[in-house]
Amino acid sequence: MTVHTWPQLDGIAYGGDYNPEQWSRDVWDEDVALMREAGVNFVSVGIFSWALLEPREGEFDFAWLDDLLDLLHAHEIAVDLGTPTASPPAWFYATYPDARVVTEDGTVLGFGSRGMVSHSAPEYRAAIERVAGELARRYADHPAVVLWHVHNEYGAPVSDDYSPHAVAAWRLWLQERYGSLDAVNAAWGTNFWGQRYLEWEHLVAPAVTASVINPAMKLDWARFTDEQLRACYCIERDAIRAHAAQPITTNFMAHQSYNTDLWKWAQEVDVVSDDHYLWSPDPDAHVGLALSADLTRSVARGRPWILMEHSTSAVNWQGRNIAKQPGEMHRNAFTHLGRGADGILFFQWRASRSGAEKFHSAMLPHAGTSSRVFREVTSLGQHLGALTDVRGSRVTADVAVLYDWESLWAQDLEWRPADELGFRERMRAYYERLWRDGVTVDFAHPEDDLSAYRLVVAPASYLLTAAAGENLTRYVADGGTLLVSCFAAVVDEHDAVHAGGFGAPLKTALGLTVEEFLPMRDGEGCVVELDGHELTADVWSEDLVLDGAQVRGTYRGGPVDGAPAITRNTHGDGTGWYVSSRLDVEALAPVLAAVYADAGVKPADRPEGLEIVTRHGEDSDFVVAVNHRAEAAEFPVQGTEMLSDTPVDGMFRLGAGDVAVFRTSPARGGDL
Ligand code: GAL
Repeated sequence: MTVHTWPQLDGIAYGGDYNPEQWSRDVWDEDVALMREAGVNFVSVGIFSWALLEPREGEFDFAWLDDLLDLLHAHEIAVDLGTPTASPPAWFYATYPDARVVTEDGTVLGFGSRGMVSHSAPEYRAAIERVAGELARRYADHPAVVLWHVHNEYGAPVSDDYSPHAVAAWRLWLQERYGSLDAVNAAWGTNFWGQRYLEWEHLVAPAVTASVINPAMKLDWARFTDEQLRACYCIERDAIRAHAAQPITTNFMAHQSYNTDLWKWAQEVDVVSDDHYLWSPDPDAHVGLALSADLTRSVARGRPWILMEHSTSAVNWQGRNIAKQPGEMHRNAFTHLGRGADGILFFQWRASRSGAEKFHSAMLPHAGTSSRVFREVTSLGQHLGALTDVRGSRVTADVAVLYDWESLWAQDLEWRPADELGFRERMRAYYERLWRDGVTVDFAHPEDDLSAYRLVVAPASYLLTAAAGENLTRYVADGGTLLVSCFAAVVDEHDAVHAGGFGAPLKTALGLTVEEFLPMRDGEGCVVELDGHELTADVWSEDLVLDGAQVRGTYRGGPVDGAPAITRNTHGDGTGWYVSSRLDVEALAPVLAAVYADAGVKPADRPEGLEIVTRHGEDSDFVVAVNHRAEAAEFPVQGTEMLSDTPVDGMFRLGAGDVAVFRTSPARGGDL
């Protein structure tokens, strides 16, 4: 069997989740006609259809799905066929009550919504293997099916499970990982608070207790949960692969996911796909979107990926669900495309009349075809139709930002020196600085080979293994520039403080360690003086012990008035920078400017809010420009604007809120 690594499609994939089981058969005919009108060539079906496909245990009814796939194929709409395992049917809950999820506080989760049952329950695992296998057996050769979509958003809406099945699996997992209880006790430091285990049966799940749970235990629990979810994915994937050669994916949630270590997950899929929803209270949500897209491309190791879900307008699950402005959907879609997506899909095709998501926007809204949203959807379909040649082209970057889910899990545990110093907020602040400077970045794991990058930025490396510390030190010695933000390299893989003091694994690269963390009270703050700039810092400061590093920025006020705040160290052929306080996006500007100069990174010379990313193809480059500004912006470019098929030779004026894509010659174009 020759396994495909990308869906067999003629163009950029365009469409969305399609849930026709919510509609009568005559509506399906209207749907496919309107899909064609909108330029849709690809839909995801069956994601929540278990109750229809297997109405009673072991009894399958594929008639409606046969009809649907034939209809879609007749209209040249390719299918991403979902396995329905994110929403087991009522019979499953009734037949296997012990397979229900138990939450941290002992609540047993019931039926009536969606969400997987216990991912450790043998009955669930048997059922998903059966339904995925039956689907694959039936549709392996259906010409409409070009991709398999396993489950839906692993980790949502529940991931942690404290049921008896989970606890049994947890004990086995610990036995395999550690081999002996002595090793578990050592890794978790159980002599603290007298938590020592002498019997495997005494090991419990980290559920609600009187005070804070052993943090190393919780960190292992996060790893265990991630692996249990992934094991379920692999069961389904293998059941499909036994029959079918189409590529297999499952939709990630990149920066919005918590329980899935996507570096590991990406190795198990043929095609990386991702869901992204704007966080509407954030006025610069498009920056978070760009972060998510870069992270998705990075876990895909640079290969093209599919945006499996986003919204045409408002979602329905935020406190106030803000509709997208005219043009915003285009900008969102083109940011994803510019950052490597070869598929642009939505949740969902037709807005549901019933159920929990009836106020969620769709490609075909309740208002019908005479609506702004449908007009924009149709125009986006036309635009993407003109971009077939962009497929397969790649984004490259000189700068890597370190991202490690294990560090996120560890930093988010309880009883930290300051809760406000978070993994995600630091990641966003540093990413946003780079975004505003027009610097395209990849994300990387701290143990990756980083030698291709001029600059490596570590915004949130609280957990850093000794191996990662050696990797980063070697990177600097070999000529790289490393920028590390505060509260870094504090603990190892067991959330134990590194011997040698805070930051010890990076001592050689940075020329310092940290003697004491010095959080500040609300409103206290301080100033960091750097190259004549007065940078406002809040929440966090540190007392540094320099061992070779030079002082570049100095604290004024705060707990260590006059002490070093920002340092630069030379080690081997490279440089290690350290920022010991919490600086916001504005304050980071002069810091990054100095670091870019060391690294030989050139920030873009263009107005802030004009986002430009280049995808490199075999014979051409594709320059994707998105103007988030309220006014037009001009920039130099030579080539053809592909959406309007217009030659451009010199300055191009991009209207307020508009998008454009240019085909340029690689020799002349390159990264703008
Ligand atoms: C996603 C989910 C979809 C739909 C959507 C609404 O997380 O995969 O099924 O619920 O959210 O925004």
